[in-house]
Amino acid sequence: MDRVNKILKNHDYRKYLNELQKIEKNRKFCRHNLSHFLDVARIASIINLKTNAQIDDEHIYAAALLHDIGRAQPNFNETSHAAISAKLSEKILRDCCFSDLEINYILDAIIRHDDKNLNNVKNLSEILSVADKLSRPCYVCDVKESCFWSLKQKNLELKI
Ligand SMILES: [Fe+2]
Ligand SMILES: [Fe+2]
Repeated sequence: MDRVNKILKNHDYRKYLNELQKIEKNRKFCRHNLSHFLDVARIASIINLKTNAQIDDEHIYAAALLHDIGRAQPNFNETSHAAISAKLSEKILRDCCFSDLEINYILDAIIRHDDKNLNNVKNLSEILSVADKLSRPCYVCDVKESCFWSLKQKNLELKI
């Protein structure tokens, strides 16, 4: 996990984490912080093991840690944040010694993580997307009535 630990210490990454914390200070809905990123990484890792998808843990953790950093940019919106996250992630992944091939693979998963149609768990982008949605504790959320997620999307019971 050396390269994942490099991401956690990366100057740009820390800057985006700090920006996110400031931007979302008064957000009433789920936040996009290190805790969310680690929840997604660990759930994705569990799915990876359960389905024997054999995806490298470093790729899972890198994609999960980076998938929402685009929300730190002032011009993001719900639909564009995945693409912005991928754009910002490229330099971080390069600085943390990931190869071009690995970078393209991880960026593709980040770009597609918000795709509502990804419900299978066969590859990194699908596992990231499913883990992202499973990470939210709607079952204890006080503002779930005003959340934009559809009733079908909300986690009204704990699954894993
Ligand atoms: Fe997202
Ligand atoms: Fe997310």
